[in-house]
Amino acid sequence: MAKSKFEYVRLFESDDRCLPNTWIVVRVDGKGFHKFSTEHDYEKPNDIKGLSLMTKAATSVMEEFKDISLAYGQSDEYSFVFRKETQAYSRRSAKLSTNVCSLFTSAFLYYWSEYFPTSKPLYPPVFDGRTVLYPSNQNIRDYLSWRQADCHINNLYNTTFWALILKGGLTPSEAEQKLKGTLSGDKNEILFSQFAINYNSESEMLRKGTVLIRRKVPITLPNGGTREKSQILQEHGDIIGDEFWNRNNHLLTIS
Ligand code: GTP
Ligand code: MG
Repeated sequence: MAKSKFEYVRLFESDDRCLPNTWIVVRVDGKGFHKFSTEHDYEKPNDIKGLSLMTKAATSVMEEFKDISLAYGQSDEYSFVFRKETQAYSRRSAKLSTNVCSLFTSAFLYYWSEYFPTSKPLYPPVFDGRTVLYPSNQNIRDYLSWRQADCHINNLYNTTFWALILKGGLTPSEAEQKLKGTLSGDKNEILFSQFAINYNSESEMLRKGTVLIRRKVPITLPNGGTREKSQILQEHGDIIGDEFWNRNNHLLTIS
């Protein structure tokens, strides 16, 4: 078919294909979730309904995009790690981030009423999305460690902050003042001595976030035989140390 004289405008589109042989991470993050969580009465410091809805939306993304081998989420964010050799959307950066972000957002809204008592949120939630490349296994592990360390730092702070307010009767600014300059040991001590809370006994999902991995699990067939089926599994353990990666070494090897 003859090309129209307008066809040349395609040349203005930039080639944004991700470098081959690099880990592709798409991270989505809620826009203004400080306000969104307040206006939707999220429990403080953590709302299990809200976090579970995030994980439901992330699972929908992994069900659709089979080349995502791992996802890690905490607070209002989720990171999706594509297999190093993925050819999804010819590795085009914007295609990857916009498709993941769009599906995540629509799934968050679609499943809202299964987690919250209202049929829909007060206004449409928004998530931003970005694509980041990591060349080595160490880099991708450090990226995920960074997000999990962030979860720990924020959750310890928020748990102490809200204990001081909700159980200790402090105002938000008094609590903020009290925590200024404190180290993690100090916060653990405040929780333990003032509120009898052993931080390490708090739920792992809140302290460490959620990891979704794709793994082959044996299933029993009607004839009694077994076959392997790929499933999305949820964990809440440590992903900074070696144990998780030794147990899931298929995640970092090219298939
Ligand atoms: P931008 O991402 O820059 O648009 O700002 P943001 O307001 O979304 O803040 P950010 O992403 O840095 O942090 C997420 C915020 O969401 C937290 O600071 C909390 O205020 C809120 N949030 C996330 N999860 C929960 C939750 O389970 N309970 C409550 N109460 N708030 C939460
Ligand atoms: Mg946010």
